Amino acid sequence: MKLDNVQLSDFRNIASASLHPSHSLTLITGKNGSGKSSLIESLFYLGFGRSFRTVKHTSVIRNNSDKFSVFAKCITDMGEELNVGLQRSRSEQFLCSINGEHSNRLTDLVSRIPLQLFTPQSTDLIIGSPGERRRFIDWGLFHVEHNFNKVFQTYHRLLKNRNALLKQGALLTAKENAYWEQQLAAVGEELNVRRKSYVDELQSVFNHISSEFLPEFCLEISYYKGWEKELSLAESLVKKSAYDIKVGFTSSGPHKSDLRFKVDGTIAQELLSRGQLRMAVAALQLAQTKLFQQQTSRKSIFLLDDVGAELDIEKRERFIDGLLAMDTQLFVTAIEREQLAFIDKYKDKKMFHVEHGRVNEE
Ligand SMILES: Nc1ncnc2c1ncn2[C@@H]1O[C@H](COP(=O)(O)OP(=O)(O)OP(=O)(O)O)[C@@H](O)[C@H]1O
Ligand SMILES: [Mg+2]
Repeated sequence: MKLDNVQLSDFRNIASASLHPSHSLTLITGKNGSGKSSLIESLFYLGFGRSFRTVKHTSVIRNNSDKFSVFAKCITDMGEELNVGLQRSRSEQFLCSINGEHSNRLTDLVSRIPLQLFTPQSTDLIIGSPGERRRFIDWGLFHVEHNFNKVFQTYHRLLKNRNALLKQGALLTAKENAYWEQQLAAVGEELNVRRKSYVDELQSVFNHISSEFLPEFCLEISYYKGWEKELSLAESLVKKSAYDIKVGFTSSGPHKSDLRFKVDGTIAQELLSRGQLRMAVAALQLAQTKLFQQQTSRKSIFLLDDVGAELDIEKRERFIDGLLAMDTQLFVTAIEREQLAFIDKYKDKKMFHVEHGRVNEE
């Protein structure tokens, strides 16, 4: 997928902008507060339907405006034209459009735009909460397996039901309880099987990439399914049911699953420097990009915000080389072009400069 033309209006400090990015590398420079991350954030909306900086959609609407919109003309990997757009107003109404047809289902839009993001906060993928890592795994499944979203939604609906009962302190009669638990356990096992096999595949791609990208140390990833290894989910729910009633929520299941990182046998969080953590995340995302291509023969879009932060120049180059070698459409922001002193070697690039929310091609 390539974004061929992007049009924004009233997004953060950008009143309006229209740009034809490169299908390969697009560099966006500008001073602090000029609007670089805002531009990246608007593209992120196409792939996720939300911001990566706030949960409040109204925060991204330009001050004194009523709504923002982002439209893009895309060229799919089959060479077809796809027109998508998203609009959100202060009254929390949102509308997306796909080839002129309106939809109020966000999935219709985001399932078409496989997009990844790397920012200085991306180290949260390793040091942040397990939810970040589950989202990372699920991105790979969501864009590859058509009915993954259904399995995911069903599991979380059943979990919500069980938790509501647990909160009331009243699990149903033994018979009713067994019925709901069976359902939860069956869908939960299904979710687990998919996540586990995704991580298995990712591991081999990751091992290869990290040995080239991070030759300094040996990083390993492993999968934790969210309950005791030897038990089935049904058995774990039964074993934990007295505890679950006491605490008022379901304490085991794929909603607790996680990815674990070790460096030469030690927990990565305890050993790696900030820059090394960023490198490890970069390697993980390169692996995800590669696996996505292997599984779908499609190309993803990659947003790289603030490339200068905590990555030395050699690593920046290696990361960008790695992404471009996979024919990923890459958007990179930097305060100054000098942060990418090696940029002249890329032929098929476009450069934009942002100043007080105005985006100009250089
Ligand atoms: N809703 C809004 N309406 C108008 N302006 C906003 C809104 N939200 C944020 N801003 C302003 O938009 C500007 C651009 O912010 P942005 O984070 O995009 O800058 P940046 O170029 O990425 O800067 P940095 O190099 O510091 O990361 C900031 O001055 C910010 O105060
Ligand atoms: Mg920024």
